[in-house]
Parts: sequence; structure tokens; C-alpha cells
Amino acid sequence: MRAVLNALTEELRRLKSAGVRTVAVSDEGVVALRNAVTRRAGSSPRAAIVGRGAGVTEESPAANVVADSFRTPPSAVRISAEAPVAAALPPPVIALPAGDKAARWAALRELVLNHPVCRAHMRPGKKVVIGVGSLDAQIMFVGEAPGADEEIQGEPFVGPAGQLLTKMIQGMGLRREEVYIGNIMNWRPQTATTAGAEQVGNRPPTAAELAFCLPFLRAQIEVVNPALLVALGKTALDGLLGAGRFKTLGEARGRWHEFEGKPVMVTYHPSYILREPTPRKKRLIWEDLLKVMERAALPISEKQRGYFLER
Ligand code: URA
Repeated sequence: MRAVLNALTEELRRLKSAGVRTVAVSDEGVVALRNAVTRRAGSSPRAAIVGRGAGVTEESPAANVVADSFRTPPSAVRISAEAPVAAALPPPVIALPAGDKAARWAALRELVLNHPVCRAHMRPGKKVVIGVGSLDAQIMFVGEAPGADEEIQGEPFVGPAGQLLTKMIQGMGLRREEVYIGNIMNWRPQTATTAGAEQVGNRPPTAAELAFCLPFLRAQIEVVNPALLVALGKTALDGLLGAGRFKTLGEARGRWHEFEGKPVMVTYHPSYILREPTPRKKRLIWEDLLKVMERAALPISEKQRGYFLER
């Protein structure tokens, strides 16, 4: 539990140094944090957490930050000015239960959606996001992080980039429900806003955030056991193959790589195509998807082979 509280402290400190002064935590998030602190408090005779509005004593500096949430409304948890330095964000260790895929995935979903660190990143009305799709999928698409639409709906790739991804999947002759779609991150990386303001725009996740969320993706890969992965964009590339291994997406794109024994095709993120919807860019991403289709032994018609070729 100390690891979780340290992780939380580290993240709050990072947000504070980025200028963020309040972090919203839902009621459920507050309950999860209260439970975490209470469990930790039980291990120390000096510690006592007595609930919102009451006095709080806790020997852990991390718990002081968490405990602050009990004195303020859950929709605007203040970051303590004394937020301490903590060790690097320790990634969670996930032990999936025995059982069939559906049972294991359901357990994983519960874990991710209720994870105190994930929940601590939620603003009111926003959701932690885990992957969706077929648990028997041959192909798993991996994106970056939930965006504005995704954190509201609690599903990856439902906004404009997601609609394009769905079209790409259909172009491959598949339905969205036949593949699995996940993200490296389970929350939307927050940009600094003034107190309580709605986030505008995304920022790339930090290396610590990527490392923290990777075990959740790894566990999804373990449950679904797809034949291959498709990394969409640089963040997915960095998250799966290691930040710093490739300077640019172009160095890795269109080729097969490997993540823990699974083949990974690296291609553009659909939002890149939305920004530059030229036939040339569409063709480049499509050529990568043709390689995926070939490797997955999907039928490819002449028409499909010729998509986005300029004549
Ligand atoms: N972009 C992503 O990388 N993932 C989403 O879920 C949505 C947009």
C-alpha cells in the first residue's frame, strides 16, 4: 500500500510542478483513497484517519496529501503545498485470477477501473478507460491515451480518431467488435488548468505514466492473447518498445517489431491522418495495415490492395 501512496504523491507533486493546483477526485475515488489510507493507518499506532471534516493524523507524507482530500469537497481535492518528494512511480504488479478469459478480463477491468492511482487522475464525470473488443481477437490495436470523448464514455477510440480507426478496421474487412482496442494509458494525461477549469487539449504521457500503465496493457494482452499487435503512433511505440529506442515514428513505422514475443506493426496514429488527410498519408497507413492483414492471413481483394493509390 505504501507503493500506491508513494505513486500518488509522486504524481501529485508532478502535477503541482506543472502548475496544477486542484485535482478532482470522484466520490468513489475518495472512498478508494480513504480505504488505502485506512489500511495503511492500521499498520501504525501513530496513525488515525477519521474521515472528511475531522482531524487527521498520519505519519506518511503521502497520506498527508491523500488525507487532504477528506477536508475538501471530493470534486476539488487540493494538492497540499507540502507535497513531499517520493520515489519513482512504481508500476502495479498484477496477478490475474484463474478462470476463463471472460472471468480474467472482468477481474482485470475491476482492478483497473478501481485502482486508486487511476482514480486519482479522474476529474468529476470522467472515467478510467480500459480496452474493448473481442477477447478472442487476433489483432490488438494499441493507441496512446483516452481523449476528451473517451474519458466521458469510458471507452477507447470513440471520438474522431476512433471513428477513423473503425473505418480502417472495416477497410480490412473486419468489424470493430472483432478486434481488441486498447491504449497505453488508462487516463487522459491532464494539462495544467487553473483551479477547477475543464481540461483543454492533451499532453503526451510522461515516461513514469507510461511505465505505470504498461502492466495494465500487458495483462490485457495476456488475457486476449492476440496473434499480433498494431501500435498506433509514437506514444504506443514508446510504451511497447521502450521510450528512447526510436527517435521518430518514421524509424519504426511499416516494420515488424516484437513485444514480449508478440509481433508488433508500427503505424501512424489515426489523428495524424485526421490532421493531414492526404491520399499519400492514407496510403502509407494502409500499406502498414495490408502487412497486418497478410500476417493475420486475412483475405485481401484487388480492390483492397489498391486503396488510396493515386492514379
Ligand atoms: N487516441 C488514442 O490514442 N486513444 C484513444 O482512445 C482515443 C484517441
